[in-house]
Amino acid sequence: MPTTNRQLLLQARPAGLLAPGDLQLTESPLPELQQGQALARVKFLSIDPTMRVWMADRDNYLPKIPLGNVMRGFGLAEIAESKNPDFKKGDKVIGLVGLQEYVIITGNESRSFQKVPAIPFISDSAFLGVLGITGLTAYFGMTEIAKPEKGETLVVSAAAGATGSIAGQIGKIHGCRVVGIAGTDDKCKWLTEDLGFDAATNYKHPDWKEKLAAATPQGIDIDFENVGGEIMHAVLDRMNLHGRVVLCGLISGYTSENPALENFATIIVKRLRVQGFLVIDFSARFMDAATQLGKWKMFGKIKDRETMLEGLEKVPEAINMLFAGANTGKLIVKVA
Ligand SMILES: NC(=O)c1ccc[n+]([C@@H]2O[C@H](COP(=O)([O-])OP(=O)(O)OC[C@H]3O[C@@H](n4cnc5c(N)ncnc54)[C@H](OP(=O)(O)O)[C@@H]3O)[C@@H](O)[C@H]2O)c1
Repeated sequence: MPTTNRQLLLQARPAGLLAPGDLQLTESPLPELQQGQALARVKFLSIDPTMRVWMADRDNYLPKIPLGNVMRGFGLAEIAESKNPDFKKGDKVIGLVGLQEYVIITGNESRSFQKVPAIPFISDSAFLGVLGITGLTAYFGMTEIAKPEKGETLVVSAAAGATGSIAGQIGKIHGCRVVGIAGTDDKCKWLTEDLGFDAATNYKHPDWKEKLAAATPQGIDIDFENVGGEIMHAVLDRMNLHGRVVLCGLISGYTSENPALENFATIIVKRLRVQGFLVIDFSARFMDAATQLGKWKMFGKIKDRETMLEGLEKVPEAINMLFAGANTGKLIVKVA
């Protein structure tokens, strides 16, 4: 059994992007396993924009992380040793494993770790992406908040990311005209040529707003919003009366103090329904939703992609990649 653990501790709260030393790699002895505990080896870590939010000096939907603590992180781990009847060696679990190589699951935490089944042709890492939190966010954001109808126009921002790419494809399944906004021409090509989006526009081109207008001749009925700021304003300007805004995320504001949402007047004038949501509100239904996503994936109705880095020490770089748009699809760090 291993005797040491490598962990990333939150040593300083970042200003903007993560700087070297904000997350510090340390090695510490692994305590002996007590009755009721299980030791799991972390295999994959999910890299999520919300990690940057958790590092800030304020409570959010989860409490802020005290300095010096192991940084919070979601991941998939395999049970290496167990003194808890709920887990046996070899079981794979997902949950808040923390940014570390080993996690000790204590008895009272065991319910917050979900066992993942072995499914042919489905990789373990898919449980962090298309069948995991980001796929589920897209699923509930679309089916419960957007409630798309055939023929409606849906615009998705951060469309080539983990959540946006699945949300747009769910829109296609429901018969929408789907337009993506993304940060490179290659991402736009992937959206239209591989994922079946009707159009995609690169917001880094100066004429992208004209292209968005050309791609949405009937206006926009649903905005699946992942970004906020200038991108959201441009989308709101093209919304139809009584359109719906699914407020999933506002990533453009996570590394700065700039407000990601300013132009409230458009919401009044266009009588928009703006609804924020958190995927964790739907946790009781995760299994059913993951089953549906799995079926769509097996039947080729949704495709997914992963950007994978290797090594715990790569996590800080990986978190920054989200804000530079250096990922396509789900960003994951393989730890073991
Ligand atoms: N409500 C919930 O429960 C929930 C759950 C999960 C995620 N979310 C939210 O969903 C959104 C996407 O998360 P994800 O995990 O799927 O990440 P992701 O989309 O895979 O990665 C983030 C992407 O955002 C884009 N981006 C970053 N900064 C930007 C900026 N300033 N302007 C425009 N685009 C920018 C980048 O793509 P480009 O190359 O296109 O710029 C980047 O690849 C985030 O806002 C996240 O907070 C919400």
